[in-house]
Amino acid sequence: MAGKSDNWSTEAYAAAASFVPKLATKVVSYLAVGENDHILDIGCGDGPLTAQIAASASKGWVLGLDASPNFITTAKSKYTTGNCTFRLQDCTQMKSCAVAINGKWDKVFSNAALHWILRNPDTRTDVFTDIHAALKPNGLFVCEFGGKGNIAEVHAAILSALVQYGVSIDQARESCPWFFPSEKWLHDKLQETGFEVEKVELENRPTKLTPKSADGSAGLQGWIKLMGAEMLKAVDEGLREQVVRSASEILETIITREEDGSQWIGYVRIRAVARKA
Ligand code: BEZ
Repeated sequence: MAGKSDNWSTEAYAAAASFVPKLATKVVSYLAVGENDHILDIGCGDGPLTAQIAASASKGWVLGLDASPNFITTAKSKYTTGNCTFRLQDCTQMKSCAVAINGKWDKVFSNAALHWILRNPDTRTDVFTDIHAALKPNGLFVCEFGGKGNIAEVHAAILSALVQYGVSIDQARESCPWFFPSEKWLHDKLQETGFEVEKVELENRPTKLTPKSADGSAGLQGWIKLMGAEMLKAVDEGLREQVVRSASEILETIITREEDGSQWIGYVRIRAVARKA
């Protein structure tokens, strides 16, 4: 999930984004896990959803891949079982992982990871070509991640705060670590890389943040520090806290619900189901 330096920690993720694996009911239902399934999980994070899938594939095998050493260390220690294993792997470079690209997997799954993995336009097509190569003939690819318009208000507020602290708009945009495609983009890319597309859908899913904490590790500030870490690197370390506070202040009234003070941001999910033709 992460780039060259590891921005991820299981503790920070639990404080700011523990809702992510819990909101995966629909995409997991599309995966329709069978007890004998061999499933490759791309961008598995620290592993709770991989472990849940492996519990259903009780006579099969699930392998989770992630580029974050911190996440993979946690996943290995918490969730490794006889049929659930994890491996450190940059998923933009899956050709280097023979166990993944073996043409034998029944299913390839990915939740809340492809918007990071697809950031670099130069490796986007390779990611889908490699997933296709990983699957056995007629194998199924099921994914969910951020779609066009995802977290638009937070994205805009971070860009605006970076500009306020002296970053050019072009540099601010360049610092963005995500790619949120439209339905058409994903449909066309799947077809181009040899899949038969069964479904591509977009869902607006406002998502409640974890409650604010005094130390700023939870709530919106925690979310921006963790998920927006790459963007914050566009300013010197001494300014990052101010950028986070500025973006949070811009959003305060926009994302807060009067009835209970809870804060919600505009997640947009894109889901696809596609078969290796
Ligand atoms: C997402 O899951 O949609 C997401 C998470 C963090 C940053 C951007 C998007």
